[in-house]
Amino acid sequence: MSELNTQLRELRERFDAAVAAAQDAQALDAARVAFLGRSGEVTLLRRGIGQLPAAERPSAGKEINAAVELMEAALQDAEAALQSREFEAELGMRIDVTFPAPPAALGAIHPLRRVTEDICRYFQRHGFAVVLGPEIEPEYYNFDALNIPADHPAREGFDSFFLTGNLLLRPHTSPMQIRTMQQHRPPVAVVVPGRCYRRDAVDARHHFQFHQIEGLLVDRGVHFGHLKGMLTGMCRELFGRDQQVRFRPSFFPFTEPSAEVDTTCPLCRASGSPCRMCGGSGWIELGGSGMVHPNVLRNMDYDPAEYSGWAFGFGVERMALVRYDIDDIRRFYENDPAFLKQLA
Ligand code: DAH
Repeated sequence: MSELNTQLRELRERFDAAVAAAQDAQALDAARVAFLGRSGEVTLLRRGIGQLPAAERPSAGKEINAAVELMEAALQDAEAALQSREFEAELGMRIDVTFPAPPAALGAIHPLRRVTEDICRYFQRHGFAVVLGPEIEPEYYNFDALNIPADHPAREGFDSFFLTGNLLLRPHTSPMQIRTMQQHRPPVAVVVPGRCYRRDAVDARHHFQFHQIEGLLVDRGVHFGHLKGMLTGMCRELFGRDQQVRFRPSFFPFTEPSAEVDTTCPLCRASGSPCRMCGGSGWIELGGSGMVHPNVLRNMDYDPAEYSGWAFGFGVERMALVRYDIDDIRRFYENDPAFLKQLA
């Protein structure tokens, strides 16, 4: 019994020395094989158990097992220490922590957001509130309340995406005129930026999703001159101080009279020369506008004899194309960092 003890202690000492001396995984493995391998020293010791008196065999077996457990743990510790040493050596070799880092890529504000924010800021300065509305609307807000009855051909002109029931993806931001007037008594003065959807085939000038900005002012004594003044100011803020605005007679069911709004082409300055932006006409179309139709006011329980108002709805993409001299609307949705950076 004590002889086995001595043998084990002597074996452990040599094993510990071999492990401590191992400089790499190979050396560690050699120690494992020499002591704990199938024909290693511990196996030889185990074989000696058979020659002991039967009564001593169980405790001898236990002692050897306990020693093996300790040896295996020591091997694992040594292995882990070796690996972290190797890892650190690798880090030290390959990574120069003093090397200058590449500059972090800076994001840029999207041109559509920029145009939207500039317009909102302009109107806010003049006392308007910015409000947002749902992109899914019932037909009531999209059409009925805006004086477009169910059988009116203007409904078809909106080429809407219909969802279940009477819900659709809003084809314009005008429904927010109704929601605003439902919630507030006059005076109301709001602008409504937002995404809209229409069943349009995608090309350089059209997309099935686009953005509009809506404006609505209702109060006593509001007239067309106020509209012209505000829109002229808006165009000068967006495109430059010499901008002019003109109105062309048009039709919208929710305004009377109605007009299309044009502004002078900022690219050719209406010089009459051939221009890829305005086609030489000197004018850029921004969208629709007009005096709020009495039927719409009545739908909201506003008395048309007491109150009048104007409204407009402009395409944000159109204004951004012109402002940044871009030739294709699809560029706004491609998320090309080079394109966005160029406009930053
Ligand atoms: N909602 C119209 C459209 O998308 C544009 C429009 C025209 C809006 C006249 C208005 C307006 O507020 O008064 O075609």
